[in-house]
Amino acid sequence: MLRRIGVLTGGGDCAGLNSAIKWVVKTATDPQLSAHHGDTWEVVGIREGWRGLIEVDPSDPESVAKWTSNLDELVVRTWDRQGGTVLGSSRTNPFNPKIGKGQQCADNIAGLGLEAVVAIGGEDTLSVAHRLYRDLGQKVVGIPKTIDRDLSGTDYTLGYDTALNVITEEVDRLRTTAGSHNRLFVVEVMGRHAGWLALEGGQAAGAHVILIPECAFEVSRVAELLERRRAAGVRYDIVIVSEGAKIKGRDEVYLSEKVDSFGHKVLGGISETLAKELENQTGFEARHVVLSHIQRGGTPSARDRLMGRHFGIAAVDLILEQDYGRMVAYRDGQITSVSLKRAVERLYTVDVERHYDPTRYNGQRSSLIPRKRQ
Ligand code: F6P
Repeated sequence: MLRRIGVLTGGGDCAGLNSAIKWVVKTATDPQLSAHHGDTWEVVGIREGWRGLIEVDPSDPESVAKWTSNLDELVVRTWDRQGGTVLGSSRTNPFNPKIGKGQQCADNIAGLGLEAVVAIGGEDTLSVAHRLYRDLGQKVVGIPKTIDRDLSGTDYTLGYDTALNVITEEVDRLRTTAGSHNRLFVVEVMGRHAGWLALEGGQAAGAHVILIPECAFEVSRVAELLERRRAAGVRYDIVIVSEGAKIKGRDEVYLSEKVDSFGHKVLGGISETLAKELENQTGFEARHVVLSHIQRGGTPSARDRLMGRHFGIAAVDLILEQDYGRMVAYRDGQITSVSLKRAVERLYTVDVERHYDPTRYNGQRSSLIPRKRQ
């Protein structure tokens, strides 16, 4: 019997998405596997995430050609080497009351003859997948992706490793100019309300101070830490600040008050405020750099290609097992799966007690000894 799977990518793009799509296609259409399980599968790529499933009119061939494309092994052969998503993405929420297109998505899944849908996304995209499954009985499975690494139930989300590498490389570049001019650089990284990217990017890059959303900070304390370092003979400073970090007693800094379809405002601007205040307090010449979408771009790292492969294969396994409403995951070194409900019910953020030292504004200095006994 010929059966069809739809695959889509939603939310912010990142490295590793194309690898996941490629391995959904290669696994589903593999003749050896088909001979084994007795069915032949086709894979249809849906353009621009949930937007494609809302916009497509299955009865109109032109619309179907615009919003979907048939994917086979030859089409996707080289995709894993490319960043971003060849299918395109959008931040579309069919369940936003202003849009109200959840049922239309379900109808179009049926209209396109899709037996199952693989949704590759973060918290927002996968919360739509969860509602399609829970409320409308759709056969959906998820693949985790986000440079924020803030989904619960998985130790890895696609795009994270490439973003960490970008932060490390960019900070390495800044060091030479910072050193030449005895300057303080405040580098703003993404991550929304989760500090993983700042914490691990900052640690990999060797930043002196790392500021995360999970621990509000005092500018005077940051100034003190930097002054101490200069007094010890260091010529320049690198501070990494997460876009969601807050100065004690103040709100997060937003680029604009506009909200997207999921109700999120775009964070951004804390590095500029902080650089100015630190310059005033320390007298060190300060600059700020916002790494912004550069963190989501570029060639996928080996880890993102590999994890895309493992996640793509596992997503097809879930479909073959008819184990819907689940997200493939990486936990304790193994590929596994968790319910979509669990993945999206709360954000996975930095546990300050375990991973962060609020006195140094940096990572913990003890891995094996519990903090209380130090
Ligand atoms: O969730 C991924 C992310 O890159 C966040 O880190 C960031 O806050 C947001 O997306 C930016 O969104 P946009 O691409 O819509 O500007």
